[in-house]
Amino acid sequence: MTWLITGGAGYIGAHVARAMAEAGERVVALDDLSAGVPTRLPSDIPLVHGSAGDDDLLKRVLAEHAVTGVVHLAARKQVAESVAQPTRYYQENLGGLATLLEAVAGAGVGRFLFSSSAAVYGNPDVDLITEDTVCAPVNPYGETKLAGEWLVRAAGRAHGIATTCLRYFNVAGAAAPELADTGVFNIVPMVFDRLTRDEAPRIFGDDYPTPDGTCVRDYIHVADLAEAHLAAARRLSAPEASGDLTVNIGRGEGVSVRELVTLIGEVTGDSRPAVVEPRRPGDAPRAVASAARAADELGWTARRGTREMVESAWQGWQLHRGR
Ligand SMILES: NC(=O)c1ccc[n+]([C@@H]2O[C@H](COP(=O)([O-])OP(=O)(O)OC[C@H]3O[C@@H](n4cnc5c(N)ncnc54)[C@H](O)[C@@H]3O)[C@@H](O)[C@H]2O)c1
Repeated sequence: MTWLITGGAGYIGAHVARAMAEAGERVVALDDLSAGVPTRLPSDIPLVHGSAGDDDLLKRVLAEHAVTGVVHLAARKQVAESVAQPTRYYQENLGGLATLLEAVAGAGVGRFLFSSSAAVYGNPDVDLITEDTVCAPVNPYGETKLAGEWLVRAAGRAHGIATTCLRYFNVAGAAAPELADTGVFNIVPMVFDRLTRDEAPRIFGDDYPTPDGTCVRDYIHVADLAEAHLAAARRLSAPEASGDLTVNIGRGEGVSVRELVTLIGEVTGDSRPAVVEPRRPGDAPRAVASAARAADELGWTARRGTREMVESAWQGWQLHRGR
């Protein structure tokens, strides 16, 4: 198999490309570099610069590299931006996906793995979110991921493509400092950013119905996530692979915002008390994955804990801040 990895120079995409290449898979990355960093990829992984929604480019890349499977990570991913620019999100995340799936079907590519998100669930009031929990996204980003899954499955059925949708929970950490997330959109870099600016971390709401009153989330190390992609790709590579599979990718363990902020204080050596601010609209009290299907279907379970995520993310933050 040769796998095309869209968004391959991105935070998660580069981890996936490296993990798959190191495991002996042939990979080629495609990235428009709107958020990607080419140096995240080693020189033996070819990087095509261009859009995953460019029909002519896709036809050429799929043919030239004799691609047999696609891992589609390229997307816009900022919730607040999606609320402000919904048409852009639908156009880029869904329009681009439709173009990609047409090219994939036209080239006879039979395997497709889609980056979905826990954002498809919205705010369900359950202890553990299973893949059968009702999907009710609460922002346009989550809507594009849910509609993207529908599109992937429909195209798979129509064109005989075996498909897998991976619903990632809260991704953190780095396999190496140079691969770290450079954006400040998730809680770990947001707290680092506050500390770096000599400000106290912020906690939004401490009166939720949770053990310590702060929101509970399921954090997954990006290196574990990359291994989940490898497992899913291997499953899709089987000659008899067909149909569709949708899987949560999380640890199945809840960590509260206060616990995470305390851990960040320990790792960074800056344990100044957090300030509590009002709840943010749309934050669910608890969002924790059931990791059972991933174990059953992919033979994969997360191995790395929260401390490893925070320590590796901190090393990456210091490297990038140093620059
Ligand atoms: N980071 C998370 O916590 C998280 C959680 C759930 C799902 N996801 C999904 O995982 C995927 C990767 O996220 P990430 O955190 O690595 O983000 P990222 O922004 O680092 O990576 C996305 C990559 O795609 C590229 N890209 C964007 N639009 C493109 C296009 N039209 N054509 C080609 N390349 C394009 C960007 O340059 C970037 O390199 C996304 O689909 C995202 O929605 C991320």
